[in-house]
Amino acid sequence: MAENYVIDEMISAKAIAARIEELAQEIRKEFSETEKLIVVGLLRGSFVFIADLVRELDMNVEVDFLEASSYGDSMESSREVRILKDLRGEIGGRDVLVVEDIVDTGFTLSHVVNLLSSREPRKLETIALLDKPTRREVEIRATWTGFEIPDEFVVGYGIDYAQRNRNLPFIGKVRFV
Ligand code: IMP
Ligand code: MG
Repeated sequence: MAENYVIDEMISAKAIAARIEELAQEIRKEFSETEKLIVVGLLRGSFVFIADLVRELDMNVEVDFLEASSYGDSMESSREVRILKDLRGEIGGRDVLVVEDIVDTGFTLSHVVNLLSSREPRKLETIALLDKPTRREVEIRATWTGFEIPDEFVVGYGIDYAQRNRNLPFIGKVRFV
């Protein structure tokens, strides 16, 4: 990886928090009949987002995680998605919300949605904090999207570049210098 880069703020922590409040209200409405929602975070990029999102969800939730490989340490999607860590719980007949950090080519989310659908949940919806629609190669859209962004490589708020910068409180774009 190239070592010399700076990070320019793209979405502030405050803007993210405000958007999560709105999204939580929509999710609450969509799952108003749900006894307990299973919120599935895709590791590792969604860990900050899922933490903030569930604390805005005024309902019963169970949290589970799934890890799918895509990028490795590069800036390009490998297109081949592998499940590195599966869910701990069963989702058959349950209401499920999949939480993703970014939808880029769409390979990861579509693979995960296909996999989880095969387990026959009662309802399966998806939320992505970020979406880069111009990069799409597989036709898929999350039920809810936090922000649409241009084709830039971003870090922060859980999202990494070669495992770095996940702990930034905002979303920033990587600029090589
Ligand atoms: P997709 O399979 O191409 O849609 O890739 C989705 C995954 O790639 C996301 O879950 C991220 O982990 C990663 N990814 C996509 N864009 C970025 C980025 O700008 N920065 C860091 N990771 C990214
Ligand atoms: Mg990811």
